[in-house]
Amino acid sequence: MSEKQKYLVTSALPYANGPLHIGHVAGAYLPADVFVRFQRLQANDVLYVCGSDEHGAPISIKAEAEGVTPRDIVDRYHDSIKKSFDGLMINFDNFSGTARAQHSKLSQEFFTNLLERGFIIQKTSKQWFDQEQNRFLADRYVEGECPHCGADGARGDQCDACGKLIDAVELKNPISKISGSTPILKSTTHWYLELQKFEDELKEWLESKKYWKENVHNFISNFLENGLIERAITRDIDWGVPVPLENAEGKVLYVWFDAPIGYISSTKEWAEKIGEPEKWKDYWLDKKTKLIHFIGKDNIIFHTIFFPSFLMEQPEDYILPYDVPANEFLNLEGQKMSTSRNWTVWVNDFLADFDGEYLRYYLAANAPENKDSDFYWKDFQTQTNNDLANVLGNLANRVFAFSNKSFEGKINQPAELSELSAKTLNSAKLLIDEIGGNYSEYKVRKASKNIIEMARLGNKYFDETKPWAEVKAGNMKEAEETLYVCSEILRLISIAFSPILPTKMLKLREMLGLGKDFTWESLDNVIGNITLNNIAPLFKKVEDAEIQKQLDRLEASKKALEVKELEHKDHIDFEDFLKVEMRVGKILKAEKIKKANKLLKVEVDFGSEKRVIVAGIAKAYKPEELIGKKVAMVLNLKPRKVMGVESQAMILAASDEDGKLSVLTLDRELPAGSEIG
Ligand code: MF3
Ligand code: ZN
Repeated sequence: MSEKQKYLVTSALPYANGPLHIGHVAGAYLPADVFVRFQRLQANDVLYVCGSDEHGAPISIKAEAEGVTPRDIVDRYHDSIKKSFDGLMINFDNFSGTARAQHSKLSQEFFTNLLERGFIIQKTSKQWFDQEQNRFLADRYVEGECPHCGADGARGDQCDACGKLIDAVELKNPISKISGSTPILKSTTHWYLELQKFEDELKEWLESKKYWKENVHNFISNFLENGLIERAITRDIDWGVPVPLENAEGKVLYVWFDAPIGYISSTKEWAEKIGEPEKWKDYWLDKKTKLIHFIGKDNIIFHTIFFPSFLMEQPEDYILPYDVPANEFLNLEGQKMSTSRNWTVWVNDFLADFDGEYLRYYLAANAPENKDSDFYWKDFQTQTNNDLANVLGNLANRVFAFSNKSFEGKINQPAELSELSAKTLNSAKLLIDEIGGNYSEYKVRKASKNIIEMARLGNKYFDETKPWAEVKAGNMKEAEETLYVCSEILRLISIAFSPILPTKMLKLREMLGLGKDFTWESLDNVIGNITLNNIAPLFKKVEDAEIQKQLDRLEASKKALEVKELEHKDHIDFEDFLKVEMRVGKILKAEKIKKANKLLKVEVDFGSEKRVIVAGIAKAYKPEELIGKKVAMVLNLKPRKVMGVESQAMILAASDEDGKLSVLTLDRELPAGSEIG
């Protein structure tokens, strides 16, 4: 008898700064839940832990934006996310949160141990500082151009476009996310993990991981090629795990330092809940446990380089990840998902309109395992209707309806099987082996295809044996054999499909008169004689109108983006407004200013006087386009010298989000110098 394998399975801790969306589910949760259910069917010992990631800049940014505390945000989204998981039947043994006291304590211990063992150094360096807000800008508080790939909107810790880690000070054209101002570099002290000291050990360990997915391998090799350097593991923000040192006022641990430790604190919490507080050690400290991290591709480095290094230098003998099956990303309707643009499908919204298992199926069948994949609503409808309703549902329906009609819902095992029946069941068994192999290699996509193929096989066999014709001809035995073989196939499916569709398959089993307890091994049994039970359609079709509703919702979020909310300034007194002297000026001459590619020198006529002004409109207008235009101008700003030319007025211009400019001209002919107000 083979011994039970012990698995410790984790899914990336979702940030508690927003609700759960389908991209998360496809990447790190559904694949893990399916794997866990499969391993449990194999009678292996599996513990599945997760929790919400409750620290880090995104959470404090959100709290600031809403004027509430980070704790408020964390509580709100922890609950919302948990509800989504429950609705999707993603069943963790424990779902914790990193803002809990025990987690802070453990993270601090990790830090102290690494420090004491000489892997952490203290360094003073320059960091972006927002002068308007008088604070340092950690990670996502600052954005700019990626120093690696040049993409816009790269954050201070990582670039979404190329996936590389960023040292925030290398960002080009940085902008403070809090005030929108341009930050300056200012000195601050932080603690750094000397990753280079782990390089040899990491490389050796990673050498033994040849069986990891190719996308994960490639990512790591690229990363290691550049050599490891020390990385700051503390931050200047006021939300996080405090750095456990005397001289570290106002400093917290970097969210990516404490978050993965959340896997351990969640396991400890689980052990306490079940009243066996030491039991976490059975998983984390037992070399026989296989630790498997399910994550999205943007988390690879943290799980294969960072976290393993933390684990290597602790007094406890922690296990290291056995596998890190990272998935690629899920796109929506052909576009990259974006929560800030509301271009996503929120799980709680989905669950309000559809059965969660439809999402499980569609995301399993289209899992972004080796490359990015797509969620299309229309495709969701077609695929679930075809595969679930028309193929599997149809097989169950026709077998059950026929049995009810001609055999009072009883199906008996024939003494002998025809050649075709035996061949059909044999093909089904071969598919079962494939499915098992695919599940254990995290190939959920293929496993779902195999299962639908098995249902197709059943339908084809039913068509070929024509039980209705046999009944008509009085060959009851032949007809019953068909029903038997088909219900045997349905039984196999009820087991093989259960990791993906847990409750639907229980329903199917109930209809077949089978119990709730089954294992992968029980696939080798046969169905025997059964009496059908509570027959009802397994799958309801998704209607056009239901899909249209979702597409309309997406369309609306696209529109909502186009109309951005206006940002208003404080009221001013009318008297103050009257202090501004605005007049119509007629442009007489315009020319480029040397070495200033944005500026034009413009001569303007105001009737009784002429003025020279410098205007930053060279990118929007060629000099000759401006001649003769009558434009709104401000005349009583203090004159100032720009590129050696004194500017004696200001042209009023409107600009859109992208900085596209238009000078303000007249709607009706008026003389130069006319007052505006
Ligand atoms: N919150 C992170 C994300 O959503 C994942 C954290 S995984 C952990 O990208 F290992 F740090 F927990
Ligand atoms: Zn980049």
